[in-house]
Amino acid sequence: MSARILEGKIFAAQIKESIKSEVENLMEIHGITPGLAVIIVGENPASKVYVANKHKACEEIGIYSEVVQMPEMVTQEELLTQIKLLNENPAIDGILLQLPLPEHLKHDEAKFLKAIDPDKDVDGFHPVNVGKLAIGQEHLLPCTPYGCIKMLELAQIDIAGKHAVIVGRSNIVGKPMANLLLARNSTVTICHSRTVDLPSITRQADILVVAIGKPNFVTKEMVKPGAVVIDVGINRLADKKLVGDVDFEQVKEVAGAITPVPGGVGLLTIAMLLSNTVKAVKLRHNIQ
Ligand code: GUN
Repeated sequence: MSARILEGKIFAAQIKESIKSEVENLMEIHGITPGLAVIIVGENPASKVYVANKHKACEEIGIYSEVVQMPEMVTQEELLTQIKLLNENPAIDGILLQLPLPEHLKHDEAKFLKAIDPDKDVDGFHPVNVGKLAIGQEHLLPCTPYGCIKMLELAQIDIAGKHAVIVGRSNIVGKPMANLLLARNSTVTICHSRTVDLPSITRQADILVVAIGKPNFVTKEMVKPGAVVIDVGINRLADKKLVGDVDFEQVKEVAGAITPVPGGVGLLTIAMLLSNTVKAVKLRHNIQ
């Protein structure tokens, strides 16, 4: 039997529709236009596409969007000054520093993320927000894992009591995903590159989340029949084809539900960024 295909565009449209009406309410009732600033340093082509997509999504739903383009060779001080200006700018509710940073700034990434006001940290990468998530006080949540949770919720897939197995332990996806699932009462296992006998663990998963950046890594032998498979990977093959970390064609014959790549959970990442921006407005202005 073939799996239910969890189409990102259906869920993303649902989320955007509800954010759009929240944005309209903020304008009509409170006279506030939410504002998002995205800082991009240098000319990384993939980053430029991501930032352009974020800008377009903001415009579509009525969020003011500012792209701050900084030169590749910007100094630490210049970048920190820019972050400080945005922290203090009342028209800006959310700040996102597009990653990766150029080589000469990479080792100070944590310092820049920490400079962002935690209440404007729409990426959820500030240590205060990471800590809050870890102790069950969810504040602004990282967009990709938050999108995975939203998709499960909108698809009415039960999380509580289920064994969720996460493959990948990154700060951006694996670790926050584990905390989000744990807070929703899953039993959580995190696997990674040093895990011994990975298939024996992934085969126990009711919910399998994969975020490792390895094309077609998860095969049907690694999946329990009926499992829900969330593929966070986006990999470009030599022939330019985009594929996930899960071998979709094989695994869809075993899984109960599966996200495709492209067209899966990736589409919810931007939707959750918009959602976080609206949430940041409400936090700053004390609006319920
Ligand atoms: N680069 C790729 N994905 C992301 C993301 O979610 N946030 C930031 N800041 N940079 C990224």
